Amino acid sequence: MSILFESTEINGMTLANRFVRSATWEGMAADDGTCTPKLAELMGTLAGGGVGLIITGHCYVREDGKATPRQLGIYDDSLVEGLKGMAETVRGRGGKIVLQLAHAGFFASEKVTGRMPLAPTGWVEGLSKAPRREMTVDDIREVVEDFGQAARRAKKAGFDGVQIHAAHGYLLSQFLSPIFNKRLDEYGGNLQNRLSFILEVVERVRGAVGRNYPVLIKLNSEDGLEEGLTPEDFLEAAILIRNAGVDAIEVSGGTLASGKLSPSRTGIDTVEQEAYFRQAARAAGEVTHLPVLLVGGIRSFEVAEKIVMGGSADYISMSRPFIREPALINRWKAGDLRRAACISVNKCFGPAMKGEGLYCPVDRRGGEPKASGT
Ligand SMILES: Cc1cc2nc3c(=O)[nH]c(=O)nc-3n(C[C@H](O)[C@H](O)[C@H](O)COP(=O)(O)O)c2cc1C
Repeated sequence: MSILFESTEINGMTLANRFVRSATWEGMAADDGTCTPKLAELMGTLAGGGVGLIITGHCYVREDGKATPRQLGIYDDSLVEGLKGMAETVRGRGGKIVLQLAHAGFFASEKVTGRMPLAPTGWVEGLSKAPRREMTVDDIREVVEDFGQAARRAKKAGFDGVQIHAAHGYLLSQFLSPIFNKRLDEYGGNLQNRLSFILEVVERVRGAVGRNYPVLIKLNSEDGLEEGLTPEDFLEAAILIRNAGVDAIEVSGGTLASGKLSPSRTGIDTVEQEAYFRQAARAAGEVTHLPVLLVGGIRSFEVAEKIVMGGSADYISMSRPFIREPALINRWKAGDLRRAACISVNKCFGPAMKGEGLYCPVDRRGGEPKASGT
């Protein structure tokens, strides 16, 4: 049996294999962020398709942190009931599901929230046309508390764990990034200061869920921007985050403003182009000794196996391949080891943006547009 189908554990959460559906915004929640039956069913389909762990799309922990329409929310107790339905659906199909906690900060949508987005620094040359609201220390304290309350709700709703979204240039990743964070107070400047917000969130989340509950983090290893986060700072940050109490790190990179170096790179046509954060993942595992999830352009079983066998990461995390093939892992398990059918052209963002809900509009094998998982 391949190492990829070994059962493992993260802080008491038993996973049937080493495959993870990385967090993916589906655009299927109600306008107020409530989980819909359609979204719960998509998660059920993924669980039935064999992936060991599902991470939900980013859930906004307060209303001014919403990035896109029909994004899943966890900012209020009234949302717990709908989320329960999602957790139960996944459990009923033998899967595991972790909820991703997020605040979009600088990249929140004023059009969607009706509020000026919050950011570490109000104005960053070249990154936006309109100014953002620079967070005060009181704002930071409030958002830390919001992450804690959201984690409490996720646990109450029956999720198997939570993941703190500190990647892709969303709020927590903005504080860590020297490009987005030009603050002159104790939350800006050197790495320790830029990391403080994240560490406070990790501690608050841990306090809210207790010791024996999986808390993961998705972290940028680089921003894909000149003068962004350095590899040295990433590794130092990973160690301090581990010390603050996380159980596993998912290594990613890039931001919405990073063009070709965005988190979801296009043109992954050869094995050499796959797993573009592999080196950073290996280094993070070496310095933290934590379980590492690697995401970004993994498409082949053979590459995935080499990553785990070679010790570059412990888990294989993918997003776009599961949009096209929710049952990819069952296919690989059954011995059909052809690479994922995803052709990495990012057409999947379109339907979710248009309000149709997430699906792959390209089907290379069938030739016809095909909705998967809906
Ligand atoms: C439609 C879409 C939505 C995404 N939403 C999220 C999200 O909510 N949270 C997150 O951390 N990453 C999100 N991502 C990024 C993916 O999790 C992943 O990091 C990236 O696509 C690279 O992995 P892949 O090559 O396997 O797709 C999204 C990607 C896509 C394509």
